[in-house]
Amino acid sequence: MKLLDGKYVSEKLKVEIAEEAAQILATTGRKPHLVAVLVGHDGGSETYVASKMKNCEKVGFKSTLVRYEDTVSEAELLKKVEELNADVDIDGIIVQLPLPKHIDPEKVTERIDHRKDVDGFHPINLGRMQRNLPSFIPATPYGITLMLKEYGIDTSGKHCVVVGRSNIVGSPMSILMARNTTPGNCTVTICHSRTPDIKKFTLDADILIVAIGKKNFITADMVKEGVIVVDVGMNRETSETTKSGFKLYGDVDFEGVAPKSSWITPVPGGVGLMTIIGLLKNTLASAKKEVY
Ligand code: GUN
Repeated sequence: MKLLDGKYVSEKLKVEIAEEAAQILATTGRKPHLVAVLVGHDGGSETYVASKMKNCEKVGFKSTLVRYEDTVSEAELLKKVEELNADVDIDGIIVQLPLPKHIDPEKVTERIDHRKDVDGFHPINLGRMQRNLPSFIPATPYGITLMLKEYGIDTSGKHCVVVGRSNIVGSPMSILMARNTTPGNCTVTICHSRTPDIKKFTLDADILIVAIGKKNFITADMVKEGVIVVDVGMNRETSETTKSGFKLYGDVDFEGVAPKSSWITPVPGGVGLMTIIGLLKNTLASAKKEVY
């Protein structure tokens, strides 16, 4: 068993990103600029957005956090998005999900100018990604492809089973793994909450990507010997023994599954750190006008 080490890969890629940011600053006098919009006080969202902002500073980007109480109206939020779209000093805009029930996330996602949509959630970016055209790729799937690439993992012709079909991870991940790209060229199966007997599929997976949001959902009896496992799970449980006040669990029972795996991501220290890299690379690409 070998570890797909998100800490190692993310630190290495951050150095490269910081070098490019420094070059942009030297030639244009400006830093790549990411704006994050955070509505309400969801514990997970607070942590993720704080980490995104901190990492922007680390690589020499400018970052701005726009905060609203969860009572903000949809109209007010949409107006803010339009303001950010029009601001030429901004390269990337993200609106952290989930949003309160009275705000339609689809409306907000589609209002963001697709040329600043560094989350890659806009239908234009999703469509362009599927066609293999230049686009912003959703940060978590993008980060996973960067990690597979870094370790030189050959995915061509393999059976990739994606567990979970979310707009943020499972669905775009399945598109990327089926595309004629490296990594990619897989035969892809998507399993989800309505799939009867998920084990039947996971047992046949050469590559298993799990983003279902359930602690220890994948157990040793559900995988075959030599499987490559990517665990996207970020299940937070409150803990009195940790500094942060919570402990993070993946969707995969690491103890049981790791001995059967050829490669596996740990949680924490795996995919979560790579998500930030995906976001930073999209913001950099936007600042360099590489996509649009
Ligand atoms: N919520 C969970 N993951 C993400 C993400 O990558 N981007 C945004 N905007 N919200 C999220």
